[in-house]
Amino acid sequence: MIKIKTDAEIECMRKSGRLTGDLLLYLEKEIKPGMSTKMLDRLAYEYITSFGATPSFLNYAGYPASTCISIDDTVVHGIPSDDIIIREGQIVSVDVGVILDGWQGDAARSFLIGDCSEDKVKLVNVTRECFFKAIEHLSDGTPLGDIGYYVQTHAEANGFSVVRALTGHGIGREMHEDPSIPNYGRKGTGIRLKTGMCLAIEPMINAGTYKVDFMRDGWTVKTQDRKPSAHYENTVVITNKGAEILTL
Ligand code: MF3
Ligand code: CO
Repeated sequence: MIKIKTDAEIECMRKSGRLTGDLLLYLEKEIKPGMSTKMLDRLAYEYITSFGATPSFLNYAGYPASTCISIDDTVVHGIPSDDIIIREGQIVSVDVGVILDGWQGDAARSFLIGDCSEDKVKLVNVTRECFFKAIEHLSDGTPLGDIGYYVQTHAEANGFSVVRALTGHGIGREMHEDPSIPNYGRKGTGIRLKTGMCLAIEPMINAGTYKVDFMRDGWTVKTQDRKPSAHYENTVVITNKGAEILTL
């Protein structure tokens, strides 16, 4: 069941979304080569709790951290560790979620650390563009399949592939609500989006194969060919004027 949010609820989603977006801007400033992913996770925890909010990932289905930090061939759900050191030349994807006054925000960015290969720069840029191509077309009544269609078309036109094993999702009081939002699809298919729906749209784009491996730690997802991957996610609300991004 897809929950339609009231205006008052959307206002709450704006607040949790703003905190989520501000947190990513803060982490972008703090992230540096030589730092462990655990250190960055600690900064996120301190930031979130200093605003009286809760890190939504922490203890979610037993997840042990406040962020997912996924480097290069890790697509998503990399567990922060004292032993994983951020290095120049890497794509570091940081995914964060907060709960503020009972309402969720969920967003992710891929950061390029120092000088990176042209291929990595292009992958990160195209992944972000995929998100914006998709939401450009959103309004009340848009078929859900259009999101995947625009993400996939842009990714594949640039020689990249779209992860299929993981999707975006509805969001609200819960981090994961209906519907699930694939990053591939056909235009004109699926349920119609409605004003008041809140969605976490999150292209995960691979340089090589779309196939992924789930690691034995129960969380880490890597590309099967171990080529790099990038992730870009925002929480949005559908309005009668289009999609409003809550986590920028
Ligand atoms: N933002 C992610 C998602 O949309 C990450 C959640 S993983 C968690 O599913 F388990 F750490 F919460
Ligand atoms: Co998400």
